[in-house]
This record gives sequence, structure tokens and C-alpha cells, in this order.
Amino acid sequence: MNSISLQVNGQAHVVNADSDCPLLYVLRDDLKLNNPRFGCGLGQCGACTVLINNVPMRSCQLPVSFAVGKHIVTLEGLGTTEKPHPIQAAFIEEQAFQCGYCLNGWLMTAKALLDQKPNPNDRDLANAFDSLVCRCGSHIRVLAAVRRAAEEMKGRA
Ligand code: FES
Ligand code: FES
Repeated sequence: MNSISLQVNGQAHVVNADSDCPLLYVLRDDLKLNNPRFGCGLGQCGACTVLINNVPMRSCQLPVSFAVGKHIVTLEGLGTTEKPHPIQAAFIEEQAFQCGYCLNGWLMTAKALLDQKPNPNDRDLANAFDSLVCRCGSHIRVLAAVRRAAEEMKGRA
């Protein structure tokens, strides 16, 4: 075990963990941030996505040591129930989920996409979301939600 310093959602944390422990386990088990989900554990579904220095990455595949000195954002860092981020609000408006297990991955990927490309075209959306899995088949509503969020965020800019 090592003492590891992490910056998560703007707050400094110190955890005791093996350097090669998956970041996902540290976020969920040590920091009790449970929005990043364990789906496949193989880097294939995206349920565990977090932003690391604004890049969406699969935390099940990252050793916690990779995140040291970097800025980690989880879904908890976006908005709250009382004050949802525009992307979260758009997903609610469009009812862009069924069971919700995959939702974390879509939301975090959408955040990174819209930060980089406020007016994404169809190819941008396809590229960004290509490797995310939703077993409930919410993809069409997700795309509608991301387009709605883009419009909403443009209106605020
Ligand atoms: S749980 Fe990490 S990609 Fe599926
Ligand atoms: S909403 Fe159920 S897996 Fe996507």
C-alpha cells in the first residue's frame, strides 16, 4: 500500500492503495464516488468513464498511479439534483436512459465533447460515442439529449 494523493472534483484526497489498483476501485471504494460504474471491467463499455485533464478515460483500466498530479472529474463533479448541469438536465428532458447503468459514460463523454466542440456534427457525435454500450438501446434519445444540451449551452454562452 502507498499513500497516494489525488485531485478529484476540485478537492484534494489522500488514499492508501496499491499503485496499480484500478482508479475505479479507489473512486468507488475509498472516496465513495459511485457514479463511475463497474460494467465490463475490460475497457469495453464505458460505464466507468471519468475525465482526466478533460479527456474521457475508462477508470477500470487505469492504475490509480496514472491519475496522480492530474485533475479528475467524476459525474459527481458536474451538477447536483438541485442544480443539474445542462447536459444532465437535457438527459432528463429527453428521458435518455432506461435502467441508467450506462448513463455515467454517456454524460461524461458528452461533457468532454461539448467542452471541445460546442456545435458537434453527426460525425463528431458518432466518433465520441462509438464505443459506449447501452444494453437498453437508449442511443437515439442520448443523441437527442446531447443535441439539446448543445443548444442550451449555446444559449447561455
Ligand atoms: S467498466 Fe470500464 S469500460 Fe466497462
Ligand atoms: S440505460 Fe440501461 S444500459 Fe443504458
